[in-house]
Amino acid sequence: MQKKPIIVANWKMQLGVTESMQWCMHNKQELAQLTQQATIVICPSFPMALVVGVEAVASGAFIGAQDCCAFEKGAHTGQVAAHMLAQVGCKYCIVGHSERRLFYRESDEEIAYKAIQVLVNGMIPILCVGETKEQLEKQQTFQVLERQLQVLAQKIGHIKEEFALIIAYEPVWAIGSGQTPTVQEIEKIADWILAFCKTTMPSCLAKVLYGGSVDESVAQSLSQIQQLDGLLVGGASLDFQKFKNLVSLFSKLPL
Ligand code: PGA
Repeated sequence: MQKKPIIVANWKMQLGVTESMQWCMHNKQELAQLTQQATIVICPSFPMALVVGVEAVASGAFIGAQDCCAFEKGAHTGQVAAHMLAQVGCKYCIVGHSERRLFYRESDEEIAYKAIQVLVNGMIPILCVGETKEQLEKQQTFQVLERQLQVLAQKIGHIKEEFALIIAYEPVWAIGSGQTPTVQEIEKIADWILAFCKTTMPSCLAKVLYGGSVDESVAQSLSQIQQLDGLLVGGASLDFQKFKNLVSLFSKLPL
């Protein structure tokens, strides 16, 4: 049987309350059909999690957050704790998105602590990894991925109980640029990530997503990659019809 893909909509800081509600409410039935074929995870900005969550969950979708605090609680003005996200219904949380790494100087260590907070609060981390253009040109992709993953592996690799971890391979140069790696390149990287997780975190049930300029034009070719469990979609998730089409193409459904 074909596995159900996981498609994550990362709305970044793009949709306000009205637009977020419209996205869910105007497309209720189609969203409900889509969730039969794919696990849909909608990641709105923090204040929208609750309102969007009610609508999305009624259609069978899940709510995720775009980030969380590395600490459990305390004097961290402006931060949102993972347990608070879980309380408002989030089931997933993105950590280590390249925009957080770049603009907010998040380190691999801080990101590892965020992933741990997500896990201990019963959610599934979507850990983003990926190289910059410069690192690609210097052929440092695997070195970068290893550095981005190993801190987490060192901290939780010994855990005996099984846990779910989603790793989103998002080359920084592909995000919002209209460029994507080839199918063969993504296959090679997904294989490497899965092998790395197997050796360093034996209890981890790892899944790999691809993200970076995913839209209708590439969804079908990405669906050929056996090692991929789904997609992380930014810009093309803002328009419901575009999102629906790419989910259908990736899930190999009639449009
Ligand atoms: P994009 O963004 O699909 O607009 O390239 C992906 C992401 O940043 O998660």
